[in-house]
Amino acid sequence: MIPSVLPTYSRAPLSFEKGEGSWLIEADGRRFLDLGAGIAVNALGHANPELVAVLTEQANLLWHTSNLYQIPRQQELADRLVEATFADTVFFTNSGTESCELAVKMARKYWYDLGQPEKTDIIAFTGSFHGRSSAGIAAAGSEKMTRGFGPLLPGFIHLPWGDEAALKAAITDTVGAILVEPVQGEGGIVPMPDDQLKALRALCDENEILLILDEVQCGMGRTGKLFAHEWAGITPDIMMVAKGIGGGFPLGAVLATEKAASGMTAGTHGSTYGGNPLACAVGCKVMDIVTEPAFLAEVNRKAGLLRQKLEGLVAAHPEVFDSVRGSGLMLGIKCKVPNVDVVKAGYDQELLTVPAADNVIRLLPPLTISDDEIDAAVTRLDAAATALAPQDA
Ligand SMILES: Cc1ncc(COP(=O)(O)O)c(C=O)c1O
Repeated sequence: MIPSVLPTYSRAPLSFEKGEGSWLIEADGRRFLDLGAGIAVNALGHANPELVAVLTEQANLLWHTSNLYQIPRQQELADRLVEATFADTVFFTNSGTESCELAVKMARKYWYDLGQPEKTDIIAFTGSFHGRSSAGIAAAGSEKMTRGFGPLLPGFIHLPWGDEAALKAAITDTVGAILVEPVQGEGGIVPMPDDQLKALRALCDENEILLILDEVQCGMGRTGKLFAHEWAGITPDIMMVAKGIGGGFPLGAVLATEKAASGMTAGTHGSTYGGNPLACAVGCKVMDIVTEPAFLAEVNRKAGLLRQKLEGLVAAHPEVFDSVRGSGLMLGIKCKVPNVDVVKAGYDQELLTVPAADNVIRLLPPLTISDDEIDAAVTRLDAAATALAPQDA
């Protein structure tokens, strides 16, 4: 008999009653150190008191009005994002995949309104992940996500990650945009090198096509800059955001330049819940905290510390681990044993990590993780690795 919850997830046999900072706590009091943060969502930790306070305050005032009316909190958050980024304008969604939907629509409408409706193709990259909506799965294009769901949304060209010659050859008159994650998350924590991101921007400029960045997982301070593309000193035309921006409350956004967004006039897009007062109250507080220069400096310092300890861990367990990669507090350990075994061995040590493609485990802790918690995390990973390969010890 089919379970009452549609069985689309393979869930771990863990269930948490409450969260506190970097910790998730089961009903029996077992405390798990959370290096997954809800897959890069709880960027400021669980039950962050400042987020709880703004959410509670807003909940006592007003939950939902729809976008039929002005939403001052939404306006405030849009202004904050515009002030802090390349963007001139923002549309709010509730998730990353909804942000993907709009990014694709926006790019196509841009060319349509310019009188070049043939420029519908979007170049995307193998190993990428853009969500589970029809546009999201078509954009990523992997067999695993698309099989059985055809006909797929047409107009995506999939290229291998990092093949410059293939990229140049793929740019024809029907290509309107390139879509890329600056750091692939689900794909196994694969950062695109700064020079490649710069080259991508230059290629888009030369060919007058739009650059769409998916910063759903790598954005909002995760890599030590507010957005990951800042490391390369480039800006996109359109950017997808979600996850960390709501700190655990469902919130996403599409940020765009005035030019790229020029086709999106009244009536061309909408969302019942997108940008609701609850989400935007939390989003404003997340922005307050993450845009503090001292906050990002701390993310970078802690990222250096964690990375250094992980390099030591990998060296100590050469039969279990291969290498460390990533950017900021978006780190991956490529494993030699099956990554899911490492994740499970972590559960035995009351440590949560997240598997990704390419046999990688992802470490995406709350950006607020403390030095002591970093120590504890590495100690627990060490115990998990020892349990998997006792001969290493
Ligand atoms: C890079 C990226 N894009 C899009 C998505 C989809 O986001 P959501 O699950 O909120 O729809 C994800 C989710 O993991 C992601 O990592």
